[in-house]
Amino acid sequence: MTLNGKNIVITGSGRGIGKSIAIACAKLGANIGLTSRTIEELNDTKKEIEVLGTNVKVIVKPADITKYGEVENIFKEFHNELGLLNGVIANAGYSRMSTTHEFYPEKFSEIIDVNILGVFNTFKAAYPYLKKDDKNAKARFIITGSAAYTNPMPKFAAYTASKYATIGMQKSLAAEYKKENITFNQILPTMVDTRLLRGRKAGDGNKAPSVMDPSDLTDYYIFLLSDDSNRVNDELIFSSDFQEIQKIISEAPAEKRENIDVVMEYLEEKAPKVYNNVRKLKKLVQYLMDKVN
Ligand SMILES: NC(=O)c1ccc[n+]([C@@H]2O[C@H](COP(=O)([O-])OP(=O)(O)OC[C@H]3O[C@@H](n4cnc5c(N)ncnc54)[C@H](OP(=O)(O)O)[C@@H]3O)[C@@H](O)[C@H]2O)c1
Repeated sequence: MTLNGKNIVITGSGRGIGKSIAIACAKLGANIGLTSRTIEELNDTKKEIEVLGTNVKVIVKPADITKYGEVENIFKEFHNELGLLNGVIANAGYSRMSTTHEFYPEKFSEIIDVNILGVFNTFKAAYPYLKKDDKNAKARFIITGSAAYTNPMPKFAAYTASKYATIGMQKSLAAEYKKENITFNQILPTMVDTRLLRGRKAGDGNKAPSVMDPSDLTDYYIFLLSDDSNRVNDELIFSSDFQEIQKIISEAPAEKRENIDVVMEYLEEKAPKVYNNVRKLKKLVQYLMDKVN
């Protein structure tokens, strides 16, 4: 898999999932635009990419994703320095836990602003600079959603609502821009060891086994940014489905792992619900299967 020469902007890339995506993309040859509010964290991500020695361009532009003027400016600058964008990942996100009747209205708004308005601002500001002139190499708009969609959590009303909203936004965008060369897809992780979930304890080595590392998610983003996913559009990629698939494949008898068609049939038989979620994502299953084998 390569992302050689692709220009990719990732919001919320100073730490956590966004940082892992940025490093993984740079390892595969992509030029990267990094943004969040904290310049020190963005510069750390940039340094970690530079020591890889891949000679990709890394551009750092701080902005508050909830302020359209700032987001508009940084996308202009990313375009000036990188050229047209092959991929944009709307990943910046925020959450707070509290009983709902005690939640401060300002906090509720803040979560809604980062997680919903932030995705809108990202798309609106990026749109003029998306490379949409080639139906065989469509521009990718990828949202980091959450498994809170389908699994709402108590005390996370604002966050859960915001992650339901990004599904609606994706569906609407995919319908609206279906004649343009842009795809819209979303990754929906379960729990990940980042500051959003574990505060300052993130990365301390004491996470529960069910909690993923940010780097466990990068394959999904890489696949969606790669040439292999040009026709994948308006899909929801649940990390839990693929964890289950990887387990099923790794435990399957050799004859059930022979090729992707045999694997898909085996999945349909063993885990029909998961199969239904992933049946249009055969190439992603193939990509992950190659990693297991
Ligand atoms: N961790 C999980 O368990 C989990 C599970 C499912 C989905 N997710 C999703 O994953 C995405 C990334 O979160 P994470 O887990 O990696 O958390 P994280 O480590 O806290 O990272 C969040 C990133 O978003 C940025 N951000 C927050 N508010 C912003 C604002 N107003 N303007 C610009 N950037 C802002 C942060 O930078 P600054 O604060 O410096 O601006 C940071 O870079 C989020 O969309 C989150 O909902 C996380």
